[in-house]
Amino acid sequence: MTEELLTPVLTKRWLSPDAWKLSTYERLDGYTALRKAFAAHPDELIALIKESGLRGRGGAGFPTGLKWGFIPQGDGRPHYLVVNADEGEPGTCKDLPYMMADPHGLIEGIVIAAYAIRANHAFIYVRGEAVHAYRRLQSAVREAYARGYLGRNILGSGFDCELTVHAGAGAYICGEETALLESLEGYRGQPRLKPPFPATHGLYEAPTVVNNVETLASVPYIVLGGADWWKSMGTEKSPGPKIYSISGHVKNPGQYECPLGITLRQLLELSGGVRDGHQLKFWTPGGSSTPYFTAEHLDVPLDFEGAAAAGSMLGTTAVMVFDETICIVGATLRFIEFYAHESCGKCTPCREGNYWMVQVLRRLENGEGTEEDLATLLDICDNIFGRSFCALGDGATSSVVSSIKYFRDEYIAHVREGRCPLGNVPVHATAGAH
Ligand SMILES: Cc1cc2nc3c(=O)[nH]c(=O)nc-3n(C[C@H](O)[C@H](O)[C@H](O)COP(=O)(O)O)c2cc1C
Ligand code: SF4
Repeated sequence: MTEELLTPVLTKRWLSPDAWKLSTYERLDGYTALRKAFAAHPDELIALIKESGLRGRGGAGFPTGLKWGFIPQGDGRPHYLVVNADEGEPGTCKDLPYMMADPHGLIEGIVIAAYAIRANHAFIYVRGEAVHAYRRLQSAVREAYARGYLGRNILGSGFDCELTVHAGAGAYICGEETALLESLEGYRGQPRLKPPFPATHGLYEAPTVVNNVETLASVPYIVLGGADWWKSMGTEKSPGPKIYSISGHVKNPGQYECPLGITLRQLLELSGGVRDGHQLKFWTPGGSSTPYFTAEHLDVPLDFEGAAAAGSMLGTTAVMVFDETICIVGATLRFIEFYAHESCGKCTPCREGNYWMVQVLRRLENGEGTEEDLATLLDICDNIFGRSFCALGDGATSSVVSSIKYFRDEYIAHVREGRCPLGNVPVHATAGAH
């Protein structure tokens, strides 16, 4: 019964034997969408993606067709397509499994998108630690070149597309699209001032589209199935299927592809529920940059609008589930240690604010904090949120503000009891700022 909640579209080939090989991909309808796309004018493809309502899967949910439509045409400049395969948001685990299982699906989406925006060179920027995915992509790209799906005059269409796979060095900030472009150009990975936006001044100052892996992997299916079919899944403003990655205290963590708008209650049914003998305490709908939810949010529709209306964000649909054994102060500290470590240091609110939040949270976790520390934390968040140069800073405040909103009593108990009320022994993590 719970199986009916699944909509395997992007994940449908994952369990086929040798799913990642070109021969398997071709046997299972691979590259038929590309042939269909070449029969259409590039502007028709942009219109189709607009009509489908596809929204970016990298976290912000920006409408993909609109983004493609921003690329100036007939400007005589090179255009680029850059695939964001950095997947650094804690808890997120969908792009890497996708690329391992179905690299040709991504390549097909890339060629169609490149044709639509008239880009003759595309880049996949892969997280540096993901050597396995890097190798798998390299081998799929080689296969695609050998069969004429990449390179000159693809399938006799007259369209040329080169594809370069680039390994980053494993920095969370290099997932931010302008820091990614800096890094790809060989500079230090730090965000650029916007405007100008990548659509006019992106890679090498040329018009560029940056899209997430899952976004581009959706494109061949929309070309084959049509906009109405895509919109038959999900909700009106957040159509289509989505890969939810569920981790933490559930019986069967993993990737579950479901229509946008599914609830945590349903996702728990699919993933076997919270581990035996334990209860849900808090969870993230879309990674560590999205405010926590609690058991009172079990029925919130997990689409862009539903998550926002309930006070959080859909983010990357990285659902991390924590049961009652987890100390809210300790968990939030772990997240802030991550942000302090990954802050690129370009702007003061994020660089200094995260450093100081680590100090205050460590003190609280050790039972050495004061009740005023809560006001200090909220004040620091106030100075980071909306005052940072990029969204990393804003995201860092999510766990702190929401943890105090829902679990103030547990913070206070640390102060009054002089230790973690759950009896957890603090981990004196060495990862910190600077
Ligand atoms: C700190 C930070 C990290 C990010 N990491 C990623 C990432 O790993 N993958 C990704 O696709 N988008 C990431 N993004 C969002 C990108 O900036 C950008 O919005 C996205 O790649 C656009 O693709 P889409 O429109 O297909 O979603 C990150 C943003 C920030 C601020
Ligand atoms: S918000 Fe943080 S990561 Fe973003 S530019 Fe400022 S210091 Fe760098």
